[in-house]
Amino acid sequence: MKASAATTDAAGVTDFRAAFRDCMAGVLQSAMSADELSIEASDIPALLELVRETADPKFGDYTATLAMPLAKRLGAKPRDLAERLIVRLNADTCFTRLFDHVTGPVGPGFINVRVRDDALACGVAAACGDPRLGVLPVAQSETIVLDYSSPNVAKPMHVGHIRSTVIGDALARILRFRGHRVITDNHLGDWGTQFGMILWGWKHCRDEAAYTADPTAELSRLYRLVRKVADAKPEELAADPEAAALAEAHPEAGREVLLETAKLHEGDAENRRLWDEFMPACRREIERIYGRLDVTFDHTLGESFFQPLLAGVVTDLTAAGLARESRGAIGVFLDGQETPLLIRKADGAFLYATTDLATLAWRAEHWQPDRILYVVDHRQSQHFQQVFTTARSWGCRAAERLAAMQLVHVAFGTVLGEDGKPFKTRAGAAVGLEALLDEGVERALAIVGEGEHARQGMDEAQRQEVAEAVGIGAIKYADLSQNRTTDYVFSFDKMLELKGNTAAYMQYAVARVEGIAGRGGIDREALRQQVAADPASIELADPRERRLALAALRLAAVLEDVEADYRPNLLTGWLFELAGLFSSFYDALPVLKAEGRQRTTRLALCDLTGRTLRQGLELLGIRVPLQM
Ligand code: ARG
Repeated sequence: MKASAATTDAAGVTDFRAAFRDCMAGVLQSAMSADELSIEASDIPALLELVRETADPKFGDYTATLAMPLAKRLGAKPRDLAERLIVRLNADTCFTRLFDHVTGPVGPGFINVRVRDDALACGVAAACGDPRLGVLPVAQSETIVLDYSSPNVAKPMHVGHIRSTVIGDALARILRFRGHRVITDNHLGDWGTQFGMILWGWKHCRDEAAYTADPTAELSRLYRLVRKVADAKPEELAADPEAAALAEAHPEAGREVLLETAKLHEGDAENRRLWDEFMPACRREIERIYGRLDVTFDHTLGESFFQPLLAGVVTDLTAAGLARESRGAIGVFLDGQETPLLIRKADGAFLYATTDLATLAWRAEHWQPDRILYVVDHRQSQHFQQVFTTARSWGCRAAERLAAMQLVHVAFGTVLGEDGKPFKTRAGAAVGLEALLDEGVERALAIVGEGEHARQGMDEAQRQEVAEAVGIGAIKYADLSQNRTTDYVFSFDKMLELKGNTAAYMQYAVARVEGIAGRGGIDREALRQQVAADPASIELADPRERRLALAALRLAAVLEDVEADYRPNLLTGWLFELAGLFSSFYDALPVLKAEGRQRTTRLALCDLTGRTLRQGLELLGIRVPLQM
């Protein structure tokens, strides 16, 4: 953060929660050294988590509730303990230059503090002058591998892929912004049984002309058709005469499809050549969708990349005594687990888990991460628990790194339709992702075409661009604003509402805030420099100004909380709150018509809020149109 020419010694502090936590840590330390507190230094971080924003501004800005659990452990009275900590806080200049003296514990030992007005003004000035809005990079930057999206290619992406893609992308942006070294890897399912179906289909019922015209459309047609033939479910065949005829002509199709996959895996020249031919088309198809979603990856190694390592995984784990044979197959038998983790089938084929183990070891060796995050459906949680446990006890080349690494399954719930059941088309098929994006944009276009927007005289191309941002933003935001662990109901009507916690509302809020400077002919850059150089030009006199300033400066703390739980919905929730506080401020107080320091303060708050909202949406991967 750029240091501003300070007028008080509180200059530069923008994250007041972190500052209060620091003061509290110092106070706990000194109480420990004075033998007033018999706790260990290692207990302190968990206690500091109990320093949080106060729910009701009546009780100050931040509250520490640590006196209760601490007193319980020490057999003391919470209020007495809080009292002693308050005495120490009030004697600490780091504390008193930022916070108002505390008068005594509230209720069962709550320590409530209020940020001093001059410190808050300095914080606003510092954030205004900082391209990072006052957010310091983390003290300890880690290498974090993020595994997300990872669709199985050669079949169309569907609604089930949206959560991993969108949540993973937001986490990548946020962790990067916090100063971590993030490596993203799209672990494509590019080697699975779906290729057996396509290969079989290619050999038995391809349409050359259709393939030349649109390869992926023809490949997905083959996939859908052959899946029915191979599964041979009477009700599916009854509904599809073409599949039924094929199934009749090829009663062994199910077995033959598996054989095609096996041949590919064994290196059969013909199947390998076809795979090499199909893959670029499959990749282009998903790239197009990622392009619309503004999602990129550092690597897309895919399952196929790790195939040469799979036999070694099985030999290694067997030699280490972790894996053994059971009914012809080979599995890892873990303590307390009923089902083993299968790594080789009786027919010699390797499995999903084998690839994940090879991938983990490869990543550990080549990228040496401190953490790997897997953003994958909650139904795979047992798989990941077993893979993680196996990897940790595996004495491979990267063993040390593997044992030290944090491995996290960032799980999420299912997307439901408005009927509360898994989201399906009327025919019962998975909803295609591309069609979903198209519908979102189309519906957004109808909104963008209404009233105000039309009056602003946007031309057709601009309207289309705004609709793309609003429609796709709506789909992303609806997902990100849910607690990721629960299922959520997909509803275009709700996600495109202009009021409420939606992308459209937030995008509109940014346009509204940023429009103020434009209307006043304000040079925003000059304003920032002026304020940063002279924090005394900020005076927070009205409670609405004060609350807005405090909320805008919470960005760093919110991102810290998002990282702690991998929950982007904490970011959307705070952005929504910030937009609401801005409305209360702006509806009540004149900005351009104000004068002197009041005008500077309010313009600075508008500028800071606008930039903060924009930054927040960018960290979620949501585009913000310049006008709406
Ligand atoms: N391709 C898998 C699926 O569609 C997801 C892969 C997730 N990542 C991983 N390393 N297993 O279910």
